[in-house]
Amino acid sequence: MTKIGIIGGSGVYDIDGLENRKWVAVDTPWGAPSDELLTGTLNGVDMVFLPRHGRGHVQTPSTVNYRANIAALKILGVTDVFSVSACGSFRENMAPGDFVIVDQFIDRTFAREKSFFGPGLVAHVSVAHPTCERLMDAAETAAKATGTTVHRGGTYLAMEGPQFSSMAESHMYRAWGCDVIGMTNMPEAKLAREAELCYASIAMITDYDSWHPDHGAVQITDIIATLNGNSANAKQTVANLPAILGTERAPCPCGCDTALEYAIMTAPD
Ligand code: ADE
Repeated sequence: MTKIGIIGGSGVYDIDGLENRKWVAVDTPWGAPSDELLTGTLNGVDMVFLPRHGRGHVQTPSTVNYRANIAALKILGVTDVFSVSACGSFRENMAPGDFVIVDQFIDRTFAREKSFFGPGLVAHVSVAHPTCERLMDAAETAAKATGTTVHRGGTYLAMEGPQFSSMAESHMYRAWGCDVIGMTNMPEAKLAREAELCYASIAMITDYDSWHPDHGAVQITDIIATLNGNSANAKQTVANLPAILGTERAPCPCGCDTALEYAIMTAPD
């Protein structure tokens, strides 16, 4: 059975229309998630919502307990995870207000726990294709139905933050072939793969980062204004997902839900 998990970033703090709503506290072996998780059903499909930064936006991108967040979704039986987050753009044709269905990442974060594995239990999963094509299809359909301009595919540079990039960094990331930049999708996507959860990222463009000659420095006030202007489309995108995915769930054709099959190095006791 499908159980959709939504990790909501800045601007998305709830699921509209959710029935049988209940906020539940979940304890995990990796500590506390960012907040309680909102459970319920929409169009007959079970859903779980987690505010990535906590209600009231109290966790920074670096202090979010990504392991606990993914573990909490797994403990609640989530099968399919959609990340919703804000991002900056490195491309003229990817404009503020547009959505990008991310398909690749460059992970430049360095102050976060990045794996459920470690000494005593060593595993190496593949993240060659870090997002699930099946969920990307669903996200694209859901977002396009809102009338938003949607870009299918894009490379997301995950930076540590909390400061935005310098102009030199912004130009470098563009030269690397990155399309968008944000502070939160890594190590989240890697951990979802380790947890054998399908993962897709809906990145909402709020600014042109620091490279664009016709746009000034990134300001959080501008980001929030763009997010507020877009929050109806973001919420509608999320609300469209259950009808698209349905309740029945076949094994993931990309193999996300069997990622550990050949990944564990440590011999069993
Ligand atoms: N989130 C939104 N815009 C961003 C930017 N330009 N850099 C990093 N994170 C962001």
